[in-house]
Amino acid sequence: MADVTVRAPAKINLHLEVLGLRPDGYHELAMVMQSIDLADSLVLRASADAMIRLHCDNADLPTDGTNLIVKAADLLRSRVGLPELGVEITLHKRIPIGAGLAGGSSDGAAALVGLDALWGLGLGTERLHGLAAKLGSDMPFCLQGGTQLCFGRGERLEPVPQQQVAERAVLLLKHPQASVSTPWAYGRCRELRGDFYLESETDFEQRRQALRHGPLLAALAAPGPLPPLRNDLQSVVAPEVESVRSGLDLLRLGPEALAVAMSGSGPSLYALYPDLAAAEAARITLAGELDALGFASWCCRCGGSGVSLVTDGS
Ligand code: C5P
Repeated sequence: MADVTVRAPAKINLHLEVLGLRPDGYHELAMVMQSIDLADSLVLRASADAMIRLHCDNADLPTDGTNLIVKAADLLRSRVGLPELGVEITLHKRIPIGAGLAGGSSDGAAALVGLDALWGLGLGTERLHGLAAKLGSDMPFCLQGGTQLCFGRGERLEPVPQQQVAERAVLLLKHPQASVSTPWAYGRCRELRGDFYLESETDFEQRRQALRHGPLLAALAAPGPLPPLRNDLQSVVAPEVESVRSGLDLLRLGPEALAVAMSGSGPSLYALYPDLAAAEAARITLAGELDALGFASWCCRCGGSGVSLVTDGS
C-alpha cells in the first residue's frame, strides 16, 4: 500500500475569552481560531505488525504513548474494532513545540485523517470530529481549519466563510526557553478572576452572540486594522513570563501592525500584517532586537484549510 502524506497546519487565536469553569473541570470558551500556513507533515506507512511507531526529526518531542499522534492512532483502531492494524509514522516537525499554536493537536488530527485513508476506513471528517474532541479541545478545529468561532471547551465550531475574512499575514515569535503549562494558565485565570466568571447559560449565550456579531468579525472582513484582540490567558501569562512581555512590547513598538497578541496559552506571540511582504519587512526591521532577546521568528500567511491529505503535485 502506498504511503500517505498529511499536512498539519498551526493555528493562532484571534480571540480567547474564558467564560466560566464547567463541572467537568474544563473552561467554557468563546474563541476565534485562524489557521496559518506554518505546517508539520506526517508520512504514514502501513506496517505488517500491530505496532504504532512514531519517528520525529526533532529529538525534543516525545514519540511514545504520550504523543497525540500515537494516542490518535490507538483510539482510532480500537474504535473501529481493528486492534491488529499497525503503522509507521514519520513526523517532520516545523511548528514550534509547546507554543500555543496547536502543533500537537494538528499532528493528532492529521494522524486521524491519514489513518482513515491509509487503513481504508472511510470515516470522513464528520465522524472523525468526535474522536478528535476526545483527544484534545483544539483538535476538532485542526481538522476543519480556516477561520472558526469555537465554543464549548473549543470543540463546538462555527465556520466564518473565507469570503468574510480578508487576506493577512503573521509575524510569529517564540522564545526557545519559554514554556507555559496550559492547565496552569487556566488555573491562574480562575484564581485571579474568581467571581467574574459567568454562570448561567443565558450569560454564556449573550457572550457568544457578542462575539458572533461584534467588532472583531466585522473588522476581519476588511483589510484594515483590527480592534484590540482579547486573550484572557495573555493577561495571566504576561505578568509571569518575561519573554511574553518583552515580545509583546517589541511587536507593539515595531513597524505598525494590524494587531498584536499572544496565541492560546502562549508563549508564542504574533503581529498581523496586510500581507507576507509587510510581515517579512517587519521581521527585517526587528531583526537586531529579535536576535538580542533570543527569539525565533517565522513569517507566514493566515488562511488555508485544516489538516489535508497531500496528493502528488499538491
Ligand atoms: O483538551 P486539552 O487536553 O488540549 O486541554 C489541556 C488542558 O487545558 C486541560 O487539561 C485543562 O487543564 C485545560 N483546558 C481547560 N479548558 C478548556 C481547554 C483546556 O481548562 N476549554
